Amino acid sequence: MTSSEDLQNGTQPRPERLSALEPQLSAQLVTWRRHLHMNPEISFQEHQTAAYIAGELRGMPGLEVSQLTPTSVLAVRKGTRPGRTVLLRADIDALPILEENTFDFVSQHQGAMHACGHDGHTAILLGVARLVSEAPDWDGELRMIFQHAEEQSPGGAEELVFSTRLMDGVDVATGLHLNSQLPAGVVAVRPGAFMAAPDNIYLTILGRGGHAAHPEEAIDPIAIGAQVVTNLQHVVSRGVSALDALVVSVTYFQAGTTTNVIPDRAELKGTVRSFDPGLRERAPALIERVIRGVCEAHGARYEYRYENGYRPLINNDGVAETLRQVAVETVGEERTRLAQPTMGGEDFSAYLEKVPGAYFNVGSGNPELESGFPHHHPRFTIDEAALTTGVQMMYAAAVRLGKAEL
Ligand code: NI
Repeated sequence: MTSSEDLQNGTQPRPERLSALEPQLSAQLVTWRRHLHMNPEISFQEHQTAAYIAGELRGMPGLEVSQLTPTSVLAVRKGTRPGRTVLLRADIDALPILEENTFDFVSQHQGAMHACGHDGHTAILLGVARLVSEAPDWDGELRMIFQHAEEQSPGGAEELVFSTRLMDGVDVATGLHLNSQLPAGVVAVRPGAFMAAPDNIYLTILGRGGHAAHPEEAIDPIAIGAQVVTNLQHVVSRGVSALDALVVSVTYFQAGTTTNVIPDRAELKGTVRSFDPGLRERAPALIERVIRGVCEAHGARYEYRYENGYRPLINNDGVAETLRQVAVETVGEERTRLAQPTMGGEDFSAYLEKVPGAYFNVGSGNPELESGFPHHHPRFTIDEAALTTGVQMMYAAAVRLGKAEL
């Protein structure tokens, strides 16, 4: 945690207020997060969540609260002093997972769970909104977007960025993700490529069904599909430079009904992850070449579809460096780390299509609290101390990025 001196930052009003407010605000953050954790809603269905967020924001004077889409919420603070327009983003959706935690604020919505920490992200941005609301004035303008549907392509960011006026006039954007694999209190930032483009492939192998005792009369889509899965690994190991990151994972293989029938088709699905736009462009054809070759060799036909997911998340170097400096001032040098790139995807990348910005991680892992389960695990949870760190980081970042001159 930080001392009040660490948060001193020139003309912005009373950074020391953050520390003064801390115990009270930290308790409020926990209340918000637990309410959201108990009431998860999955992507594009965040109606109660959005109503709750809007209700909390409307209780904070000085904020303009509106909804640009049915399940997202925007809060805006306009200052009278010159400055830039900064966008802060939190994602608010949950996942279709049956929670296996046993604490007393587990999900009350059977089959839905905040298993990625978006309940925490939402609480953090509400905390920032409260501090911003209480500031006597502000440099420039701050937009706080509580974004729906991060977990489901095409994603809520796509809709907000390209179908609403959210980004009009915005100069810079930032957002955070809690990270259970980092200790609570740690902040991790990285310039450049940070998260991958998560694309999907869909393949149907069309063979010819028949009696399992006479495979010579059939075209076996299972045997062919198995060859396709094996050979797709050559795309990565033999088709692409070892210095270029690419993942091809077949994650779904469905065929057949019983022991003595060769089915006529096999359905396969998978994911393709990359950072480099050029490699991403080549990937669909590299993959199809393998599919075509294997299917032709064995007399099968196929249907293949490559679906682009979110863009790769590439942090702006300058903004990432500013965030690193903010982290050093907020949590100290020893708790500021260089984030490792990940093949996971994140639709924050949509905002970065429009403006420079950077995304960062706040650690939420704590062995004593068993908050080290991976994201999307049915026992995922966070060390709630990370909420305070998140507010301190986001608030300090908003202040710094809003200055007319950095
Ligand atoms: Ni997430």
